[in-house]
Amino acid sequence: MKAVVYDRGGSPDFLECREVEKPTPRGNQVLVRIIAASVNAADYRSMRMGIIPKRKIFGADIAGRVAEVGASAIKLKIGDEVFGDISDSGFGGFSEYATVPENILALKPSSVSFENAAAVPMAAVTALQAMRDQGNIQAGQKVLVYGAGGGVGSFSVQLAKYFGAEVTTVCSSRNVDMVRLLGADHVIDYTKQDFIASGTQFDLIMAVNGNRPLPVYMRMLAPRGITVVIGGALSQVTKTILFGGLMSIGGKKIRILAAKPSTKDLEFIIKLVEEGKVKPVIDRRYNLQQTAEAMQYLGQGHACGKVIINVG
Ligand SMILES: NC(=O)c1ccc[n+]([C@@H]2O[C@H](COP(=O)([O-])OP(=O)(O)OC[C@H]3O[C@@H](n4cnc5c(N)ncnc54)[C@H](OP(=O)(O)O)[C@@H]3O)[C@@H](O)[C@H]2O)c1
Repeated sequence: MKAVVYDRGGSPDFLECREVEKPTPRGNQVLVRIIAASVNAADYRSMRMGIIPKRKIFGADIAGRVAEVGASAIKLKIGDEVFGDISDSGFGGFSEYATVPENILALKPSSVSFENAAAVPMAAVTALQAMRDQGNIQAGQKVLVYGAGGGVGSFSVQLAKYFGAEVTTVCSSRNVDMVRLLGADHVIDYTKQDFIASGTQFDLIMAVNGNRPLPVYMRMLAPRGITVVIGGALSQVTKTILFGGLMSIGGKKIRILAAKPSTKDLEFIIKLVEEGKVKPVIDRRYNLQQTAEAMQYLGQGHACGKVIINVG
């Protein structure tokens, strides 16, 4: 099978599309013929840090068809259309086939394309767990999505609207129209205006990207408001881990998210996609041979939604 192999650290130049041995599913694993995958910050950030995944192949988000089943796989059968986040089982999505424990995959509705299904797993589940589990989002709340333009951001805007929030987004000029189309009530272009100038106090701040001092986020919270730091600059994430607890005073809270792959959450989100309530935003499409280019593009940090790898 063809796979994009990464066995030397540091740069997308070392990603090489070549023939490797097709794996065999064991136990509760199934072999998935991957049709589409998507790129996440987790892929390029790990690559930049020189981390080589267990199977020497990046790619967490996949959508495809079950081609073989392991001896003790009972949930899935050959031909099932599935999708999921395989980062916890060693990545391996930038490849024609991957062996995956069947319990981490969800069934793809036939009306949802493989591209759209591949766009969902890591980004949408992260957005959902941040706002629902850490942020305790409620209808009618004022929610800020800081860094709304990328994968997690574009799902955050739509899910916050689904939960009935009034949504303000912060993004650059090129993403203004896109976030409006996704339903944002207010859009702040960070190249022209600082969100502090809005004077709004938010019940929930989703810090998806960028790098703002934590006291700024705390100042912009309403009484009992919550800031959930999802990503952005390493310093923003590190400071939240170190000082988030100490800064959570007077009813306001700042929390860090560590999202976990969840089939239940995948099923929740794909139903919204099926019903047209959430629409994956696809910025660019590449083929498997162009994966290094796709990683390079995402690594620039300004994708508008998701970047897809069409595998087969
Ligand atoms: N905590 C977790 O469990 C978890 C899980 C998944 C991802 N993450 C993190 O979440 C973050 C987003 O992931 P992603 O996959 O959505 O990445 P992505 O698709 O690469 O995000 C790119 C977006 O970030 C925006 N951006 C870049 N610099 C910005 C700035 N200074 N201010 C505001 N927006 C800015 C860009 O919009 P503009 O072009 O408009 O600037 C672009 O649309 C990453 O840091 C990732 O590591 C965390």
